[in-house]
Amino acid sequence: KRVAIFISGGGSNMIRLLDSMTGDHPARVCVVLSNNPKAGGLERAEERGVPTEIVRHQPFGADTSGFEHAILGALAEHKPDIICLAGFMRILTAEFVNRWRGKMLNIHPSLLPKYKGLHTHARALAAGDTVHGCTVHEVTPALDDGPILGQARVPVLAGDTAETLAARVLVQEHILYPMVLRRFVGGDTAPVFLDG
Ligand code: GRF
Repeated sequence: KRVAIFISGGGSNMIRLLDSMTGDHPARVCVVLSNNPKAGGLERAEERGVPTEIVRHQPFGADTSGFEHAILGALAEHKPDIICLAGFMRILTAEFVNRWRGKMLNIHPSLLPKYKGLHTHARALAAGDTVHGCTVHEVTPALDDGPILGQARVPVLAGDTAETLAARVLVQEHILYPMVLRRFVGGDTAPVFLDG
């Protein structure tokens, strides 16, 4: 299976996914695509000999469909079977999502369905939650809403800030995403639940 990974920033999840696809793993990364030419993950991918593509969203303004057609154009030669969104900060239209229905995953830093959208760690702290975590799900047109493929939980500790909590969650993201992708590629969509 050929996997495309979409990033917008440092790409720490992309790196773990990429480094997990070795040996008898039935998938390989065919391209890392970013909307941000300055994404640090692009260099990490290039260091590992993985093709990269940059599709900036700014030239398209509110024309998200135009942006997405440029993405499809950039993807064409790489022929991905699966798309993994990993810190990709653009919202995709229902048209694009439905074209990749059942073949596109995302990682979100909360225990969905709680805290869809942004600033998840601050919101969990503000709510006084004692447990938080991350979710890998299939992407559907509704934001952060598709079938859950895996979750990892972490405790919220006294004195936590959004930063300390995010760091604890990120460690689990790096374990969960590769695990879920390996199962997904093997056709196993039964959700997995981890306790970090
Ligand atoms: C992570 O918190 C992830 O949950 C979210 O984007 C953040 C950065 O991810 N999707 P990465 O380091 O760029 O993979």
